[in-house]
Amino acid sequence: MKDKLIIIGASGHGKVVADIAIKMNKWQSIAFLDDDESIKTSMGLVVIGKTADAFTYKDNADFFVAIGTNDTRERLQEKLIDEGLNVVTLIHPSVIIGIDVEIGIGTVIMAGVVINSSSRIGKGCIINTSSSLDHDNIIEDYVHISPGVNLAGTVKVGKGSWIGIGSTVSNNVNICNGCKVGAGAVLVKDITEPGTYVGVPVRKKD
Ligand SMILES: CC(C)(COP(=O)(O)OP(=O)(O)OC[C@H]1O[C@@H](n2cnc3c(N)ncnc32)[C@H](O)[C@@H]1OP(=O)(O)O)[C@@H](O)C(=O)NCCC(=O)NCCS
Repeated sequence: MKDKLIIIGASGHGKVVADIAIKMNKWQSIAFLDDDESIKTSMGLVVIGKTADAFTYKDNADFFVAIGTNDTRERLQEKLIDEGLNVVTLIHPSVIIGIDVEIGIGTVIMAGVVINSSSRIGKGCIINTSSSLDHDNIIEDYVHISPGVNLAGTVKVGKGSWIGIGSTVSNNVNICNGCKVGAGAVLVKDITEPGTYVGVPVRKKD
């Protein structure tokens, strides 16, 4: 672990990520990189360059990719890992984590989340504010679980899927790779085909 943390992405999501990093109290300094030159500071933290500058800080900093779009986050995080940069995992101090839970690198677990026993969270995931993941969940790489989502026991969410704010997923439901689930959706059956799903219970959106 280094003294400095560099967060890539100074947007709203980046601010929440930085807030978590500050509260973890592990880094002496925290700064952003962002490709939007008009952003000089965010939440009082300085933007010290663009995404490509990350590689010049390779030996002096830890890194976190704070980009909400799953495939963009995946591309960038994989590049950082391939180039040997140290990507960290961020967990808000209020999070409750059960026994036998695994959390991959580059994942952020936000305030008020509960993750119950024997769940597996992949790399580069966003487990957003006040969501709950019950026992034996499998959340594959680069998934976003939005604020207030409730996943019952033994739910599986496939790589790169996005579960919208306030959605509810019944126990034993599998959601395949590449799905987008709309705000407030209820899932009681497996989703086996990538696409956008909305409603109660969910239907595929054209
Ligand atoms: C599902 C979603 C991605 C669709 O976005 P979109 O393709 O831009 O859809 P539109 O806003 O054009 O809406 C198209 C239609 O779908 C309906 N619709 C959209 N989202 C819906 C939802 N969550 N539940 C039910 N119906 C929905 C709209 O009412 C509209 O219906 P109409 O054609 O009868 O007027 C989006 O609405 C959504 O729910 N996003 C989740 C946001 C979220 O969770 N944010 C948290 C970030 S941390």
